[in-house]
Amino acid sequence: MEGIFIYSQDVIESLRQANDIVDVISGYTSLKQQGTNHIGLCPFHREKTPSFSVSASRQFFHCFGCGEGGNVISFVMKIENFGFLDAVKFLADRVNFQLPEKSQGSSVDLQEKAKMYEVHTLAAKFYYDNLQSDRGQGAAAYLDERKMLPAIRRKFGLGVSFSGSELTDFLASKGYSLSLLVKAGLAMEGTRGHYDRFRGRLMFPIFDVGGRVIGFGGRILVESSNPDRKEAKYLNSPESPIFDKSRTLYGLNLARLSKMQSYILVEGYMDVIALYQAGIKNVVAALGTSFSEKHAQTLKNYCKEVVILFDADEAGQKAALRAIEHLYAKGIGIKVARLENAKDPDEYIQKFGVDALAVELQKQAINFVDFQIETAKAKYDIEDAPQKVSFLKEVALIISRLKSVIERSTYTHHIATKYGIDPQYLGEEITALTKDPLDLWKPVDKARQKNITPKKGAGYGEAVSHILSTMASDKAFCDKISSHLTSEEFLDPLHSRMFDVIIDFQKNHTDAQQADIITLFEDEASQVTEIFAICPEYEGLQSKTKALLHQIKLVKEKHLESMMYDSNTPEEEKQKYFLETKKWLETHKISL
Ligand code: UTP
Ligand code: MN
Repeated sequence: MEGIFIYSQDVIESLRQANDIVDVISGYTSLKQQGTNHIGLCPFHREKTPSFSVSASRQFFHCFGCGEGGNVISFVMKIENFGFLDAVKFLADRVNFQLPEKSQGSSVDLQEKAKMYEVHTLAAKFYYDNLQSDRGQGAAAYLDERKMLPAIRRKFGLGVSFSGSELTDFLASKGYSLSLLVKAGLAMEGTRGHYDRFRGRLMFPIFDVGGRVIGFGGRILVESSNPDRKEAKYLNSPESPIFDKSRTLYGLNLARLSKMQSYILVEGYMDVIALYQAGIKNVVAALGTSFSEKHAQTLKNYCKEVVILFDADEAGQKAALRAIEHLYAKGIGIKVARLENAKDPDEYIQKFGVDALAVELQKQAINFVDFQIETAKAKYDIEDAPQKVSFLKEVALIISRLKSVIERSTYTHHIATKYGIDPQYLGEEITALTKDPLDLWKPVDKARQKNITPKKGAGYGEAVSHILSTMASDKAFCDKISSHLTSEEFLDPLHSRMFDVIIDFQKNHTDAQQADIITLFEDEASQVTEIFAICPEYEGLQSKTKALLHQIKLVKEKHLESMMYDSNTPEEEKQKYFLETKKWLETHKISL
């Protein structure tokens, strides 16, 4: 497993040497030499007399007032509110330091990446200038109508794209190759030459945490009245060497500057901008893709709590349930705010003002377990005894998924009181769910280890089939398997989708059949059927559990392997996945 690394000590050391601490800090507060040190006003707390000292020889800073201290990397982390890796990238960019990108054999073209950044910056400028031009009046009027102030348009770099191949021609005239523009997602190749990907759209540049443009979202300006020619409301840049959708959060470059411990998570571009304009600056959104595990990981580096503020419709509520799972798995605190009488946060602010929204966010936001339970409740008529039973069973399932006994018992009492049931019964139901067969998933002891050895010939494809078909036919196992695997770990996109769909389906149904799930895959029904056809019978829960653990292991191994050879996967992600997998294997006493 060599070749996996984040950045070696040597690299970090050279990077630090390339960034003189006095130089870096001088960009934030003015320093005066005094003896061997430099002193100035501390940028981390308010003070009138300088107690902030920087040592050039030791490359260290310390504040005698607030006690803050460290090296150039921790300074940047602190002042810019960057996570470690972002601070490293920031310092590397500052001095044109080449960070090693990939392990040997799969070198990423650094020059190409640099060009990608360039064309995105130029494109953003191009769209921005369009918006200021005469031809941009229509788009500007639209923004006026949505009450978006000029200063905010500038801050978010909004622009507009026109028709044809204006941007492509402009960038080509600057010497950028068409293939680069296509790869960057700015141009498309048609039968009669190249043309712009974004045409006639309001353009939202997407920034990375450091504020570089890495992609675009384009909102349609004039909707076609012909339903057959209806285009997507938003068109987003495809993934590229500089744009990883499942990780990027819109607004994070600005939100991190708020230095708040709690972030607001919204669904759309417009919501981020509307909240920001109203003075709520700790706001981000996942874009054009649902909130993923990687988004949660990114957020974990920047805040401790997330308040989910999604659209009021069913899709928004569903998306909230998904986001909760990922955030909870990463140990981030979660609250959910719900909107009444407005479809989304933007509309809410327009209608009721930001103060009313602030109240919703602070006072009315409910904890995520209550949210899960209330969402479940909406499906049942709890005046009807059998439906109440189903509802409470679902409640038990929700509570059983909580990680700690304290959480489980607290919610058990809370809910029992709320719905007038004996906490003891609810507690028993929950205990039953957290026990057999789920107990079997606890770390396996040495004595049982041998029995886990795989049968010869049990291959990857078979493992995937076993996992998916088991999940589709067994709710308890579905639940358990979903705590060990994520859809991202499958290699085939169909398998990933099946995984998600099955989990979603099981969550909302008490007696799901494989057939129900097959019907959800119209176009791929035959492939799905084939996968389900390989559903082995097991003798007892123990052997079923063992077999599944082994199959999960195969999926993880395969994923790890493919990740290693994928030059688009950042090293830190490989490293992270490797460590997670290793830990997983250790906990379950399986050797790689
Ligand atoms: P919304 O339809 O709620 O968009 O979709 P919005 O940002 O609030 O915009 P307005 O207020 O209607 O103008 C939420 C998010 O889902 C993604 C976009 O990221 C959007 O901001 N989306 C939506 C797409 O990627 N494609 C679509 O066709 C629609
Ligand atoms: Mn919206």
